[in-house]
Amino acid sequence: MSTIVSPSLLSANFGNLEKDLNMINRSECDWLHIDVMDGVFVPNISFGFPVLKYVSDLCEKKLDVHLMIVQPEKFIREVQALNAYTMNVHYEACPHLHRVVQQIKETGMKAGVTLNPATPVCVLNDIISDLDFVMLMSVNPGFGGQKFIEHTVDKVKDLKSLIERTDSKALIEIDGGVNRETGKRLVQAGADILVAGNAVFKAESPEAEISYLKNL
Ligand code: DX5
Ligand code: ZN
Repeated sequence: MSTIVSPSLLSANFGNLEKDLNMINRSECDWLHIDVMDGVFVPNISFGFPVLKYVSDLCEKKLDVHLMIVQPEKFIREVQALNAYTMNVHYEACPHLHRVVQQIKETGMKAGVTLNPATPVCVLNDIISDLDFVMLMSVNPGFGGQKFIEHTVDKVKDLKSLIERTDSKALIEIDGGVNRETGKRLVQAGADILVAGNAVFKAESPEAEISYLKNL
């Protein structure tokens, strides 16, 4: 299976979003990564559902929604209404994670759980078999263009071994500081899905960058 590439909308040009969405539609990417922030769970605010309705209408790729908000369970219906493919919630934001994961799956969306850089993989021991995706943050969430945290490569290996041990079907997604060089090492370590914001949208040819990551 080739790597699934999910360019992050956060780094797109919001002054001319249609141009960037047309590029996404033309490109080889599989998903479009959508970062929703609330200024509480993370120290930044991005965009909300009225904006995303237009993105959903224009985008022909699957939407990969990453909620960096407290109480993400309050917005399951709104994410579903976007026709999203995945809904990713943070482990750190969900005291009743098992219930939230079941609620996401009942809508027909794929359920992903995201871990911050300081959260170890072992917290997923009792839920890994229920998950479609695990996303490891390789930067502290809230901003695009940050430096990749090296420890993530070892974490991918830990997660891969947990998945194999438990016969889980979960795929491994990585978010933050992904570029040609870090992407290659992540895929070698077992990553299935790469999110890339700056590496794609600030590249001279975003489409060529997507194609490179796709074929790592
Ligand atoms: C960070 C977001 C990321 C961000 C990645 O909080 O979750 O999805 O857009 O951006 P880059 O690839 O530039 O680190
Ligand atoms: Zn993200």
